Order: sequence, then C-alpha cells, then structure tokens
Amino acid sequence: MDIPGPEPRADGGVGAVAAAGGLHRYQLQLHAAYGPVVRFQLPGAQAAVSVADPVLLEGTAHIDKRPERLFEFLAPLFETGNLQVMPADEHGPWRRLLLSVLAGRPSHERHFARFTTLVTALADRWAERAERAEQAGRTDRTAPVELQKELTALSLRMICEYALGGEVADPGRVVAAFEDVLTEHLGHLYEVPAPGTREERSERAQAALAHLRATVDQVVADHRSGDRVGDRADRSDLIGALVEAGERPARIRDTVMVMMLAAHHTTGVAVSWTLHLLGRHPDVAERVAGELDRVLGDRAAPEYADLRRLPYLDMVLRESMRLFPPGPYGARETTETLFLGERGEYEIPAGATVFYPIWAVHMNPAYWPEPEKFVPERFSPEETAGRPRLAYIPFGIGPRSCEGAALAIVEAELVLAVLLKRFRFRPVPGHEVTPIERFVLWAADDIRMTVSPRVPE
Ligand code: HEM
Repeated sequence: MDIPGPEPRADGGVGAVAAAGGLHRYQLQLHAAYGPVVRFQLPGAQAAVSVADPVLLEGTAHIDKRPERLFEFLAPLFETGNLQVMPADEHGPWRRLLLSVLAGRPSHERHFARFTTLVTALADRWAERAERAEQAGRTDRTAPVELQKELTALSLRMICEYALGGEVADPGRVVAAFEDVLTEHLGHLYEVPAPGTREERSERAQAALAHLRATVDQVVADHRSGDRVGDRADRSDLIGALVEAGERPARIRDTVMVMMLAAHHTTGVAVSWTLHLLGRHPDVAERVAGELDRVLGDRAAPEYADLRRLPYLDMVLRESMRLFPPGPYGARETTETLFLGERGEYEIPAGATVFYPIWAVHMNPAYWPEPEKFVPERFSPEETAGRPRLAYIPFGIGPRSCEGAALAIVEAELVLAVLLKRFRFRPVPGHEVTPIERFVLWAADDIRMTVSPRVPE
C-alpha cells in the first residue's frame, strides 16, 4: 500500500490511540504528520486508511460496504443481521424505502405536533424546577439540569413515537424496554451502572427485546388488518410503508430497532452540545433568542413551517455539529482497488478499511480557519457555497450515509426553538465538560447547565 503512516506496533494500535488521548486526537496528529491520507492500525480492523481531505473523500463516496467486524458488537440486537452491514444489493431498496418516509415532509408534519407536546412537557418540568429553586430562596431562579441525560431520553421518546406511530398501548414501557436493551448491549460504552447479576441483566434484556419485538408486531398486525388505512398512501408512516412494500416482519422489527439505536443518542447529544456552546457564547444565544421572538411572537413553539424561517438557529446547529459531530467516525470496506488523488497516487487495495475521521475533517484548517472557534456564520449560504461538499459530513457520506438526517434536523431545531424561546442556559461553575468518543460523541460527566426562564412567568 503506497500510503504513509506510522510503523505498526504489536498491540494492534491500542497504545498509540491511548497515548494521543483518544481516537480523534490521534487522527489529528496522524494527519498533521503524514498528510491527508494515512495508513494506521485501527483497533479491531488491523490496517485502515484514514482520509481527511474533502476533495479526496469524493473518491470514496461510492463505496457501498461497511467492514463487518467493526459492527459485530451490535449483531445480537437484530434478527435478520445487522442492517448497518447488509449487502449492497439488499441495502439499496431498503434505503430508498426508508428515505421515502424519513426524508419526506409528510412524515415530519405528521409527527410534529406530538414532538412538540413531548418537548413542551420537558420544558414545563424544567420551569417548575426553576420555580422551586426560586421558592427555596435562590434569587436567580436557576436550577441545574443534566442536559445529555434528559435530552437523549427526550429523543428516545420522539423516535419511539415516530417509528411506532404513537398509538402503542404503553409507550413508557417501550422506552424502558429499549433502555434495558441498550444498557445490556451498549452500557459498557457509556459506563451505565446496571443493577443485578450478569445473568439477571441478560434475562432482563432478553425480555425487553421480546417486548419491543411484540410491540412492533402489534403495529404491523394493525396495519395488515386495515385499522390504519390511510397511513400508507402519503408515506408519512414508517411501519405502514414497510408493510406495504412487503418487507418481512423480522426485517420490520429490525428496522425499528436500528432507527431507535441510530436516532436517539445522536439527536439528543446534538441538542446538548448546541446548548453547551450557546451557554458559553451568550452573544450568539441572544441572537438566536431574538430570531425566535421575531418569528414566533407570543407562541411558545414553532409550527413545522416556521423552521424554515429560523436560518440563524439552523446555522448555529450546523456549526455545533461541526465542532461536536454526534457521530464522530464512519468506515467503509473497499471491494476493489481504489486510487485516490489527481494522479491516483494513493493506492488502496480491495478489502481495506477506509476510515472516515468525521471530526478531524471538520477541524481541517484548510477549509475551517481557526477551526476550534464557534462561528455560526461559517454556514451562511455564501460561505457554504465556497467549500467543497464533503468538508462538512456530520451525517456521513454516500450510499450508507444517515437516512435520518432531515428528520434529525427537524427534531433538533424544534427542541432548540422551544427551549431557547423559554430559557437561558448557563454553564454550572466548576463543572468540566469533557467530550469522549463512544458510539456517539458523548460528554464524560454529562453537560450540566443552569436553566432559568428568559422572561418572568
Ligand atoms: C443529529 C442526529 C444524527 C446524526 C449526527 C447522525 C449521524 C449518522 C452517521 C454519521 C451515520 C453513519 C453514516 C456513514 O457511515 O456514512 C448514521 C447512520 C444512520 N443513521 Fe443517523 N444520525 C442522526 C440521527 C438519525 C436519526 C434521527 C435517524 C432515524 C430516524 C438515523 C438513522 C440512521 C440510520 C438508519 C443509519 C444507518 C445508515 C445505513 O447503514 O444505511 N440517524 N447517522
């Protein structure tokens, strides 16, 4: 492989990543030392090639295969195999079907009111907490909140509602079941303490998985029996579209599972990091609040159509996902020899892991001057037009990129609009916010902020 990189080490690369202080820092160091295309040892994949330049990335954008080994740990959640590594010929039609629902306005509009109810309930709770803090004698009416915990829980509720249609008998139990499944299969990543012995935890997760699958089956059965006629034609309902397309029940259950998995941590942390940044940039927060006041007037929440009238909020969210991309990495596997560069100078053999260092791409100073700075104006239409397309890839690249991107933006902007219209967020003094790379870009000890009403209520 004619690609520069450090000498391989006996530990498979683990030590080098740890010594750099995590994979992202290691990526930054590697690309600074060896250039835009680097060969390195990726723990779990042996040899990998990292590509950090947006123009060179275009040459990888067609690859339609993920390396199976890297995603093996999620296999127990699926009945028909992990959908993230499904072969290209099966993946294509499934993706088109998913996009026809997830990326479309009808599905966003259909769920918007219910999403609004969910975020408003959270805001009401925070307002009550602030009220109690005031009654307890705190003159500033503030109350600290663990943003990451509360906002990922909110996102999970929203995606359950979206995926299942909001008509399941006990949505609270579905959410709790999914949390049990996650704690068992991903908990070690997030250091979630799980009660009980190993066997008890495993049994609980099995029971929870069975409950989730039975719930999806019930929704599918309702569709089949015609109880939900009308959901199908306009592509606003995910399970309806999957049933109509003739997908087998196990694949439908797996699809709901992958959506819940992919959707809730990512969207929840996107909102959390945005509030974190706004708390440290009160001038930007003021501008967002001003835009919300102008567009919403006395209303506490936007309508779906209002989102397009909040361009500054949109720029703030995008800049936040540049600095803290919720999904910090992606990966592909080459199926044939790949030549990157104008003269094809980087030769990558078939079967190699191509690593997408999304976070390092967003920090490339050639396209992002002073990359550490929070500058929402980078996402003005003019600035955006002046950059290569793949300089900004929070939702990944090509045929395996995120199908939920459009929905995620709608959800995140709605949540931000409701919260920022109503509250002011400030960092809790002395609380350190430390990003760590998990399945998503997580804050080690949560993001604790004080929340106070913007106007006396
Ligand atoms: C801010 C929120 C989100 C971010 C930043 C995000 C980011 C990502 C990234 C980076 C990938 C991997 C892409 C690649 O390998 O090129 C991905 C995959 C995926 N995401 Fe998202 N995501 C978000 C929200 C959502 C939501 C709300 C849904 C569903 C409703 C979703 C569904 C998926 C699915 C199904 C995949 C697998 C794609 C495939 O294999 O075809 N995501 N996402």
